[in-house]
Amino acid sequence: MEAGESFADALPWLKKYSGAVIVVKVGGHAMVDPEARSGIIKDIVTLKFLGLKPVIVHGGGPEIDAMMKRMGKTPQFVSGLRVTDDETLEIVRMVLVGNVNTDIVSLIARHGGKGVGIIGNDGNFIVARKKAPEKVVMNGKEVDIDYGWVGETESINPGILSLLLENGYIPAIAPIGYDAAGNCFNLNADTAAGDIAVAIGATSLVSLTDVDGVMMDPKKKETLIPQLSVAQCYELINKGVVSRGMIPKILSSISVIKGGIKSVHIINGNLPHALLQELFTDKGVGTCITLD
Ligand SMILES: Nc1ncnc2c1ncn2[C@@H]1O[C@H](COP(=O)(O)OP(=O)(O)OP(=O)(O)O)[C@@H](O)[C@H]1O
Ligand SMILES: [Mg+2]
Repeated sequence: MEAGESFADALPWLKKYSGAVIVVKVGGHAMVDPEARSGIIKDIVTLKFLGLKPVIVHGGGPEIDAMMKRMGKTPQFVSGLRVTDDETLEIVRMVLVGNVNTDIVSLIARHGGKGVGIIGNDGNFIVARKKAPEKVVMNGKEVDIDYGWVGETESINPGILSLLLENGYIPAIAPIGYDAAGNCFNLNADTAAGDIAVAIGATSLVSLTDVDGVMMDPKKKETLIPQLSVAQCYELINKGVVSRGMIPKILSSISVIKGGIKSVHIINGNLPHALLQELFTDKGVGTCITLD
């Protein structure tokens, strides 16, 4: 298709999103391939030049796993959350802040944008508290799980984000929160992205991952579910269709929609330009979650 034609086709969406704040959660699993990572950031910089205000929240699961293994530790997940002891927290900070965040900010610059990396203690941005221990059924048995330094959001102070967005910067947020005593917490990136999206009243949240969306069977592409209501999301969790890292993604989507944001999109970041296609065409590429 001619470039002129595709721009003309995109006009309704360009109008819809003009000036809109879009939170893009870039999954660690979508960024394993350096080319895919660069392509995603290029699309985000494109959004900026098209007049949107993208906010990046990133994960880093595979890189954290790799570093843990190098240090002789075995990653442990419960309900899709990484159980985080003292050493794991240190590794999470090293990898997310030291490696992934700085790499994303460099890629933003490489594609012509102005990126600024922030974490929860910049301007008291994300105030967090320890996630309470809970009973979880594992292998048919109920067990008490203490997630260690896994946090949940207590409050978001979006001042620093507004400052960056008003001045043309693309914020890149590593999902690490702090409490008033200076304790640091590992936040699931989808949970943090959802809480941030609600706090800043984003127009939508797009979560880029390594699968095509929510599926009845993640191994079978043809089982992709293009559209989900909040009620259907609960059903999928209760039936166990959704597991591992998809659990916090769906729970966060539910709270985002309940928080007043119209849609959450879960798409495959490894498909070239999936983000642009999802936002600017009527052919959605993944799963779109709405109220009903
Ligand atoms: N019903 C389902 N449909 C699709 N994916 C599912 C489903 N149930 C579980 N999953 C798993 O969820 C994974 C995506 O979540 P995961 O946390 O692993 O990645 P991410 O959030 O993109 O990366 P990161 O956590 O590093 O930011 C998929 O790779 C898939 O294995
Ligand atoms: Mg995840």
